[in-house]
Amino acid sequence: SAAEKGGWDSFMDKEIHEDPAAVSNTLLGRYDESGDLDLDEVHIDEEVFRQIDKIIVVACGTASYAGLVAKYAIEHWVRIPVEVELAHEFRYRDPILTPRTLVVAISQSGETMDTLMALRHAREQGSRVLAICNTQGSTIPRESDAVLYTHAGPEVAVASTKAFLAQIVAAYLLGLYLAQVKGTMYRDEIHQTIDSLKAMPAKIQKVLDGQAEVISQTAERMSKARSFLFLGRHVGYPVALEGALKLKEIAYIFTEGFAAGELKHGPIALVEPGEPVVVIVPSARGRNVLHDKVISAIEEVKARGAFTIVVAEEGDPDADRYADVVFWRPPCPTLLSPLVDVVPLQLFALDMARLKGLDVDKPRNLAKSVTVE
Ligand code: G6P
Repeated sequence: SAAEKGGWDSFMDKEIHEDPAAVSNTLLGRYDESGDLDLDEVHIDEEVFRQIDKIIVVACGTASYAGLVAKYAIEHWVRIPVEVELAHEFRYRDPILTPRTLVVAISQSGETMDTLMALRHAREQGSRVLAICNTQGSTIPRESDAVLYTHAGPEVAVASTKAFLAQIVAAYLLGLYLAQVKGTMYRDEIHQTIDSLKAMPAKIQKVLDGQAEVISQTAERMSKARSFLFLGRHVGYPVALEGALKLKEIAYIFTEGFAAGELKHGPIALVEPGEPVVVIVPSARGRNVLHDKVISAIEEVKARGAFTIVVAEEGDPDADRYADVVFWRPPCPTLLSPLVDVVPLQLFALDMARLKGLDVDKPRNLAKSVTVE
């Protein structure tokens, strides 16, 4: 009903506008006054965590992209390998699991059958399973050794939005906790990262407030487009995948997301005059080499006539050089940038679907939770 949508005309619209709250609520109560991580709710012994030598994230859809984001951060902070695997692939390939492997099952609903089967398999092999889940008491957390709940609030729209941000935050809390327990980061560094996370909701809000207009104007210009390419690097790569998935799911547009470094290995063959290409640009600060590489990828597709839509950090001196449109986002540490970069892509997909007159909350053929194999 209209009341349930709280004045928004769709649940998806409402839920995108709950992105800032999803982040702040997921952070709430997970650190003490000194800034140390406090994850007592996760009933796994500190000593067990100290012994963990590998993480495997299992998930499907959007949750798997949150896992891919987390890989970059956790490997950097904790110095242990993090594999991310689609639950249905993991389950049937005889993965290497030991008692020192932590399997992290990420699921908004807690009911995705493939993810459930994957965690059952991992537990049978003697590994510990920690669920990152948005639904209290659902099957996946019930069957896991421990759970870290995302506090995004109920997500009704079939396409996941705010849960994605909350999943990234929860996975980051886990990473920081492991770093604290294993001593792989300085306490100050952990505290600073928590402070940076606490600053994210206001930055997300700024994107929601400040970019809505340019996003809807861009959607109008693109309303006849039949396909989109999305590209990003490092943590921008899973953001590209998620942006592509949103547009595919609710606007029924053929999309492909890929790592910008792969451009020359195939995708550039698809670029013809007018082809829309969405690019997530890493920060230019700190002489980031990846920034320049992504800028040259934009230049290359532009030279072949692409219509370039760029997500970039405010103050980036190069972002609009080859861009037809820029969606700006506030500065933040690189590892946290997916939390702002994905927001314009969520809004863009919503606008594109609305312009086509589609039911954004209930896209054809899709279910909120896939409870069959
Ligand atoms: C379905 C939904 C997606 C979701 C995926 C995983 O495909 O439509 O939005 O990302 O399932 O769901 P889960 O509840 O396990 O996160």
